[in-house]
Amino acid sequence: MNEFVRIVEVGPRDGLQNEKTFVPTADKIALIDRLSGTGLRAIEATSFVSPKWVPQLADAAEVYAGIARRPGVAYPVLVPNEQGYERARAVGVEEIAVFTAASEAFNRKNINAGIDESLARFAPVMARAKQDGVRVRGYVSTVLGCPYQGAVPLDDVVRVARALFGMGCYEVSLGDTIGVGTPAKARAMLKAVAQAVPMRALAVHFHDTYGQALANILACLEEGVRVVDASVSGAGGCPYARGASGNVATEDVVYMLHGLGLETGVDLPALAETGRWLAGILGRETGSKVGRALAA
Ligand code: HMG
Ligand code: MG
Repeated sequence: MNEFVRIVEVGPRDGLQNEKTFVPTADKIALIDRLSGTGLRAIEATSFVSPKWVPQLADAAEVYAGIARRPGVAYPVLVPNEQGYERARAVGVEEIAVFTAASEAFNRKNINAGIDESLARFAPVMARAKQDGVRVRGYVSTVLGCPYQGAVPLDDVVRVARALFGMGCYEVSLGDTIGVGTPAKARAMLKAVAQAVPMRALAVHFHDTYGQALANILACLEEGVRVVDASVSGAGGCPYARGASGNVATEDVVYMLHGLGLETGVDLPALAETGRWLAGILGRETGSKVGRALAA
C-alpha cells in the first residue's frame, strides 16, 4: 500500500462530548489549535446540538469563534437540525456533519427521531448548505451493532448510507458506535455499502470498546477505504450509546498507517504530545498505546 489516507480527527467533538466534567472553553480551543499544527487536514471541532442533550458542548459557538483556522484544514461541526445549522453559520462554519443511524431504536435515544424522520429533518439543512456552499458529511451510526436493538441488518446500513449520499453528503462515515465489530464483519459491511456508495466517498469510524478498532480499520483499508476517523488519546464515546467507550486513538492509527507505507501528512510525535496534553487536562493517562510508548 502506498497512498494517502485522510484522517478525520474527531477528538474535540466525539472525544469530549461524553466527558462529565465541563472542559473549559479555552482548553477546547487550545486542543484544536494544537491539532491544527500536527498536519491533520480535518478536525471535527464541536457540535451544534441541543445543549440540554450534550451540555459539554454548549460552548460550541465560542469554541468555533475562538480557534485559529489554518488554510487547508477543514473544521466540520455536527449539526442535527436547522436550528443547529443557523447557530453554526452565525459563527462562520463552512463544513457540517449530519448524523443518523441504521438502528431505529438508537436514533430515538440519540436524536429523538426515527431514521426516516431524521432524514426528512436533514432535507432543509442540505438545501441551505447547498445554497451557501457549505460541505456536508454524513454519519451512519450502529453499523455493526446497536446497544438497544442488538444486531443491525446490513440492508439497513446500506439504505441509510445510500440515502445520505443521495441527499448530497460528499462523504459518509460508517460508525461502529459501541465498538462491537470484528474484522470480517467490518469488511463485509463496508463491501456491502460500497455497492451503493463509491468507496472514495466512504469513511470508517470505530470505537475501541472491545479492542478491535485497529484490526477493523486494517480490514477496511484492505477493502479500499482511504478515510479513517479517530480521536487523539483515544478519548470519546456517545452519551446515548450505553457501553460505548473511546474512539480508536489517532496516534495508534497513524503509527499503523505509516508502518503500512501509507501517508497521512501527520507529525506523529507532535500528535502524541497533544494526546498526552489532553489526557492531562482530562486528569487521566493517555488512552493511546503509541502515545505512551513515545513518552517513555
Ligand atoms: P428534541 O428535544 O426532540 O428537540 O431534540 P426539539 O426540537 O423538540 O427542541 C427541544 C429544545 O432543544 C428546544 O429548547 C430547542 O430550542 C432546543 P426549549 O424550547 O426546550 O428551550 N434545540 C436546540 N438548541 C440548540 N441547538 C440545536 C437545538 N435543537 C433543538 N441544534 C435534538 C432533538 C436532535 C435537538 C436532540 O436530540 C439532540 O441535540 N441530540 C444530539 C445527541 C448527540 O449529540 N449525540 C452524540 C452525537 S452522535 C455520535 O456521537 C455518533 C457518531 O460519533 C458516530 C458513531 O460513533 O456512530 C457521530
Ligand atoms: Mg463516534
